Amino acid sequence: MTEQGVTIYLVEDDEAMRSSVARWLRLADFHVEPLAAAAPLLETIATDSPAVVVSDVRMPDMDGRDLQQAVQHIDPDLPVILFTGHGDIDMAVEAMRNGCYDFIEKPFNAERLLESVRRACEKRHLVLENRNLRSQMEDLSGLHARLIGRSPAINKLRQEIIDMAPVDANVLVIGETGTGKEVVASCLHHLSPRHDQPLVAVNCAAIPETLAESELFGHEPGAFTSASTRRKGRLEEAHGGTLFLDEMADMPLEVQAKLLRAIQERSFNRLGSNTVRNTDFRLIAAINTDARGAIQRRELREDLYYRVNTIELHIPPLRERREDVPMLFSVFCEHAAVVYDRPVTYPDSATLTALMNHDWPGNVRELKNVAARYTLSSLPPEERLGSLLRQDNDIAPAPGEGLREQVQKLERQLIQDALRRHEGRITPVLEELQLPRRTLNEKMRRYGLRG
Ligand SMILES: Nc1ncnc2c1ncn2[C@@H]1O[C@H](COP(=O)(O)OP(=O)(O)OP(=O)(O)O)[C@@H](O)[C@H]1O
Ligand SMILES: [Mg+2]
Repeated sequence: MTEQGVTIYLVEDDEAMRSSVARWLRLADFHVEPLAAAAPLLETIATDSPAVVVSDVRMPDMDGRDLQQAVQHIDPDLPVILFTGHGDIDMAVEAMRNGCYDFIEKPFNAERLLESVRRACEKRHLVLENRNLRSQMEDLSGLHARLIGRSPAINKLRQEIIDMAPVDANVLVIGETGTGKEVVASCLHHLSPRHDQPLVAVNCAAIPETLAESELFGHEPGAFTSASTRRKGRLEEAHGGTLFLDEMADMPLEVQAKLLRAIQERSFNRLGSNTVRNTDFRLIAAINTDARGAIQRRELREDLYYRVNTIELHIPPLRERREDVPMLFSVFCEHAAVVYDRPVTYPDSATLTALMNHDWPGNVRELKNVAARYTLSSLPPEERLGSLLRQDNDIAPAPGEGLREQVQKLERQLIQDALRRHEGRITPVLEELQLPRRTLNEKMRRYGLRG
């Protein structure tokens, strides 16, 4: 292979034509693979092939334009040069519009063909170099390890994170609960030039309404009754770094108005102070419903939404990317095994099928919890999941269940929750549930739970 390692696949059914074009190309130092038909080409090339295709349009087994479409279905950036003896401007225009790299009429000028092939090789080389660089960047950044998944949606999201991380534009991350909004925010921060500055996360849903302003903007002593000392707000703490406003639509509307001003001007006042303070942060916000709905319900100010959504990143729910389930589950089982010092149990294929068929209303967080419980369970591997998914769905009565079964289900759930809260330590569970050790042991055995 010469010309930067690229092979020229020359597809031409006419033997005389094929050997003369191949000769020209070889004389110009290209590496040529002559083919008499289109079909073998499609078996040879793949995504990322270091290849350029030069093909006749009229061939017995396939029209060159169809071949071009098929090639670009395999790799949309693979250059295809077409030539034809039946001079037809319309066909040329249409082929170019459909992504053909160049269109050359027969009888053609050898120089014109060689020049076109040279440029196509150059382009192919650049595209491949770029892809290689990107995948190295992804490996370097650890993005694959932080944001796990191979579905097209997650691949695209990782790409968007790489593209958007270095710019300072505001980002709005949208996704249902547990889909990984915080993971995305932290990836954006860690791949940004601000990565060695603070990432300050504010959970807007968790701050009491009356304290929201002081939490964000800080206060001076005496600003309100309980404000005895000076306090820096989160906006100030985020100076130089990234401010992550989680569940933004849960912030009181008046505070949203103040926040809007602070974002626009990158300045604010502490409560009880007239001094205007400047702050420089990159803003990432998250909401877990559709923004339009939140605006209509008057939970989210429209102007704030438009200020924050310069870039919108959507994370689809897990049920729309079921192919990510096996990998996520295996990785979470490995984590859980390390954390709880248990052997790793990898799911068998029946378990995987059941996992992929589950709807995951709690998304990746729910999957992570199930993986932890799966790892902790003492049941034989093939029996573990049934009980986990059933009870994870909820403990509402199933059809035909009497009071006894329902009470048992609830009891099992309460014991399991307590075990989880205390990370499997029995003594605090005994204290919390006020049970004698023997009774707890007996119930744990009956319900297949382990400490
Ligand atoms: N693609 C992923 N790869 C690895 N871990 C993930 C992924 N998505 C989510 N997680 C894990 O799942 C859990 C939930 O993720 P995260 O807290 O980011 O979700 P969220 O969208 O912010 O949820 P909420 O709406 O409840 O705040 C975390 O433990 C996180 O590490
Ligand atoms: Mg979150």
